[in-house]
Amino acid sequence: MEGLKDYIRQNKNRFLIELFELLRIPSISADQKFNKSMIEAANLIKNNLEKVGIDNVELCETKGFPIVYGEKIINPDFPTILIYGHYDVQPPDPLDLWESDPFDPQIRDEKIYARGACDDKGQVFMHIKAAEFMLKNNLLCCNIKFMIEGEEEVGSENLEPFVKNNKEKLKADVILISDTGIIANDTPSITTGLRGLSYVEVEVTGPNRDLHSGLYGGAVANPINILTKMIASLHNDKNEITIPGFYDDVIIISESERKEMAKAPFNLSNYKKELDINDVYGEEGYSTMERNSIRPTLDVNGIWGGYTGEGAKTVIPSKAYAKISMRLVPNQDSEKITDLFLSHFKKIAPDCVTVKVCPHHGGEAYVSPTNDIGYLSASKAMEESFGKKPIPVRTGGSIPIVALFEKELGLKSILMGFGLDSDAIHSPNEHYGVFNFLKGIETIPLFFKHYKEQFDK
Ligand code: BES
Ligand code: MN
Ligand code: MN
Repeated sequence: MEGLKDYIRQNKNRFLIELFELLRIPSISADQKFNKSMIEAANLIKNNLEKVGIDNVELCETKGFPIVYGEKIINPDFPTILIYGHYDVQPPDPLDLWESDPFDPQIRDEKIYARGACDDKGQVFMHIKAAEFMLKNNLLCCNIKFMIEGEEEVGSENLEPFVKNNKEKLKADVILISDTGIIANDTPSITTGLRGLSYVEVEVTGPNRDLHSGLYGGAVANPINILTKMIASLHNDKNEITIPGFYDDVIIISESERKEMAKAPFNLSNYKKELDINDVYGEEGYSTMERNSIRPTLDVNGIWGGYTGEGAKTVIPSKAYAKISMRLVPNQDSEKITDLFLSHFKKIAPDCVTVKVCPHHGGEAYVSPTNDIGYLSASKAMEESFGKKPIPVRTGGSIPIVALFEKELGLKSILMGFGLDSDAIHSPNEHYGVFNFLKGIETIPLFFKHYKEQFDK
């Protein structure tokens, strides 16, 4: 595409300076203390969209944080590409493990270090800068709509009614999302599947107050002991999940499809080295890449109770808690799985404790075809920018709203992300390669070009 690479080279520093402004805003959706920063981030996205020439930019109010919407309709007969992304980020904790402040972006080693650098501010920004290039150079060949939300990291609860109530506004031919990754910088890939999610918090109560563990220990149930026993029983020796009915709706993947998947490059010893582990772990009969993408899982995300302060306190706590997530695969229903968990967990609780289960957000899995014009356009665009044909891969992560887009808007989403697994998203020292940021800006206009070409065929 004419002038694309030159434009990026010439404007690279400005792109980074502008992105840094967004990265400086601690838009943590999970923590009320940052509500003002959320509005600030939404406004900055709005200003950036307006600055590059997007029309009708507005903050759409919701019961939660606003959704930034904008559009450029060049010709109603042309195809429309709807860009989705999120401006909220995960909490940066634990703070002491960051080498630089999570909200004071810095470049080290050709990587941008900041919370949200990759997930998802850096990737959203690629789309704004790609739009800037296309608009400035009169190269925009499809209509474009932006929908950037502020609640992805907390379950997109308010985006759901927004989508249902704004079907006309969101009318498009395809959704383009950069909120996933590639295998490696020399091995481009396109995400063709996401896992669903069911998330619950459990509370186990024993005695009505914390007790002296000498006076009562041995005679009264310790809710932490009980909870950990219950949790341990949720997997069997083969590391399968023991909740009755859990696997009922899982579609068995054919041998040929598994063979196809196994062709994606993966190096087990590098994988282990990168994580400082001596061995991997998971469901019997499946490879590491299958375990983290096409199989459902159950994991404790946090567990607490009793005394965790300094020194030793002898106590039988009254309560114990855990946060448990289940990653789901296509055809599993998150509400059904939550119900199965709830009744099973109550059933396995001994009489000496009471159990409360509180469901959090959830969402369904997603798979996209590899033979429609959306996938084909992404593939051609990446092949052109990376010089290598991308490989389709299913990821283990979740973007729950993507299945809802399909259900409500009847639109497929193309998951053309540019992050790397090693970017430490949600972890301390999250970063995003300058290479990946610029490669994204280069690839997006090519997607538009190929989409228009395919559409006109
Ligand atoms: N962008 C991620 C999801 C992702 C990252 C998918 C990398 C594939 C590769 C997204 O922001 C995210 O973190 N999603 C959450 C779910 C949400 C409901 C909190 C997740 O997967 O844990
Ligand atoms: Mn994300
Ligand atoms: Mn995330």
